[in-house]
Amino acid sequence: MARLDDLTRPPGRPPRLLYGGDYNPEQWPEETWAEDARLMRAAGVTSVTLGVFSWSRIEPTPGAREFGWLDRVMDLMHAHGVGVVLATPTSSPPPWLGRLHPETLPRDEDGRTEWWGSRQHFSHSSEAYRRHAAAITEDLAARYAHHPALTMWHINNEYCTYDWGDGAARTFRSWLKDRHGTLDALNTAWGTDFWGQRYGDWDEVLPPRRAHYLKNPAHVLDFRRYTSDLLLECYRAERDIVRRHTPHLPVTTNFMPFWSGQDGWAWAAEEDVVSVDVYPDPRDPAAGAYNAMIGDLTRSEAGGRPWMVMEQAAGAVNWRTVNHPKPYGLNRLWALQSVARGADAVHYFQWRQSRQGAETFHSAMLGHAGERGRVFRETVRIGEDLAVLGPHVAGSRVTTEIALLHDWNSWWADPGDGALSTRVDHAELVRAWHRALWDAHLPASFAHPHHDLSGHRLVLVPHLHLLDDPAIENLLAYVRGGGTLVCGFLTGIADRDGRVRPGGMDARLRELLGIDLLQEWWPLDEGEHADCGTFRGTLWSEELTPAPGAETVAAYRGGELDGRPAILRTGRAWYVSTLLEPAALSGLLASVAREAGVVPVLDALPEGVEAVRRGDLLFLLHHGGEPVTVPLPGRHRDLLTGTVTEGAVKLDRFGVAVLEEAP
Ligand code: GAL
Repeated sequence: MARLDDLTRPPGRPPRLLYGGDYNPEQWPEETWAEDARLMRAAGVTSVTLGVFSWSRIEPTPGAREFGWLDRVMDLMHAHGVGVVLATPTSSPPPWLGRLHPETLPRDEDGRTEWWGSRQHFSHSSEAYRRHAAAITEDLAARYAHHPALTMWHINNEYCTYDWGDGAARTFRSWLKDRHGTLDALNTAWGTDFWGQRYGDWDEVLPPRRAHYLKNPAHVLDFRRYTSDLLLECYRAERDIVRRHTPHLPVTTNFMPFWSGQDGWAWAAEEDVVSVDVYPDPRDPAAGAYNAMIGDLTRSEAGGRPWMVMEQAAGAVNWRTVNHPKPYGLNRLWALQSVARGADAVHYFQWRQSRQGAETFHSAMLGHAGERGRVFRETVRIGEDLAVLGPHVAGSRVTTEIALLHDWNSWWADPGDGALSTRVDHAELVRAWHRALWDAHLPASFAHPHHDLSGHRLVLVPHLHLLDDPAIENLLAYVRGGGTLVCGFLTGIADRDGRVRPGGMDARLRELLGIDLLQEWWPLDEGEHADCGTFRGTLWSEELTPAPGAETVAAYRGGELDGRPAILRTGRAWYVSTLLEPAALSGLLASVAREAGVVPVLDALPEGVEAVRRGDLLFLLHHGGEPVTVPLPGRHRDLLTGTVTEGAVKLDRFGVAVLEEAP
């Protein structure tokens, strides 16, 4: 199987990191291409992604093939030592496809058509779309399979579409038949006797379209599973075509970061290289922690192997309400942060800022200010840094002893508008727990609840509403085998169909966690706190009766829950029935980690400094605005500057040091 390692550690050549971005030369006159190639070389660009949105250029009329321009770009890149990650252009079909085959256009929940004129206007269920996508993929792969510039395939772009139309209704039914077998089984799984929703004929089963009031959550859950699966089918069809032509080259498709629409575990298993697009907000004080989390998740999806940042912004994006540029140094900091967490390829959207179209105001490696602009200067600097780091870093691993469990099925099973509190947000809870570890300098990975957990000393479950039987067995076996487990509230409430377990929580889990009776859930309003003595709970609280033998580590004080456990522990299994305020959550997880034998990368780091080990190297990343001094015993050499430090390392605003031990 082809891997990123094949590109970053080519036989007989020094290891290297890939550096570059989306290159859209068709938006520019050919005279500009030579300048692009010159500036790419100046910036140390080694890799570009071509053709992401080029379908209408290659096939301007049905069946036409205009490859001449792409041949010239491929040759130019090769002549300048730039490898090409070639995209199948299937995320933006040409207007003629929608005109000739209106059924290729998706429908939204209200039945409205999503027309051409933007992008991603394709239905995963349309046979015509799939046929045309396969044909262009086939011809693209045949034409460039042996081109020396080709290094990797990039299938489609950010698969993130939904379809509630009639074509989708047909494929949804057939997906449901595969899953449930009979209509009776579907009626049982969905609990359709509630509100008289029982189906008597398969043709009555529709995607969960606009309805008068709350939808059936089990119906929505299956629709989300189905959508992820159908898009994955589209990906696989194109992947198999390109693999047939180039079995030796890796294939990827770029994920949106922590995106709810695709089951990242299932998708990553079908990729040779896992890649992600990540756009933290430069004004968000939590952005560094967020970038770290996306890195940890992507590395985990890649099974711990090196992964790829397929897109990030050199400066501002153009899709927030107000879009801020990155102050000098921040782009470099986040790029190197991804490398610290296992990325071996750092790409951007995009190489040259567009002068026309919807993303004219989105930054690029080469902005409107051109080669004299400060954004380009930073592009050059990052290229230099990556060139220095490549031989020391490429292929090395990040090791962790803590796993956070995450599963898209559980995310999809959250009860949505029918929940006791719509303030409970799966993604926010995962972020809060990861952030707590980040604050404590405890490196972590992510895992699926079915994964073998025995390699981790500590397993955390921030919020898995749905846990199927194999997942529960896995957690029990993990603790039996000596592991330490901490579960957040609403863990294991529901079975695989989203049905609440008898007693409000799986009985085996209740026994493990020391809960005799889960009496009532008490969600908290915005600004409302639950006093727990040394800390405050937010968002949620619970009326629990502990089982004999369970230890109440912290109890609620005052109000209805006075004296009830907020945190329970039974041996190595912990249950946390509220969301602790950030410092308290971080303190709790750090102390449980310590007891489980897990210590932070470094103690006593100045505010805003992150420490990560990758292979034998120590990355120090400073997210703050003022210079700091990090105490660090011993002698170290900073690979980025060549300087040797003794006893301490100085970091400027957004400064980074990549340290190896020095004699
Ligand atoms: C991504 C997309 C790119 C570009 C970028 C802008 O979602 O893949 O094509 O639109 O966002 O931030």
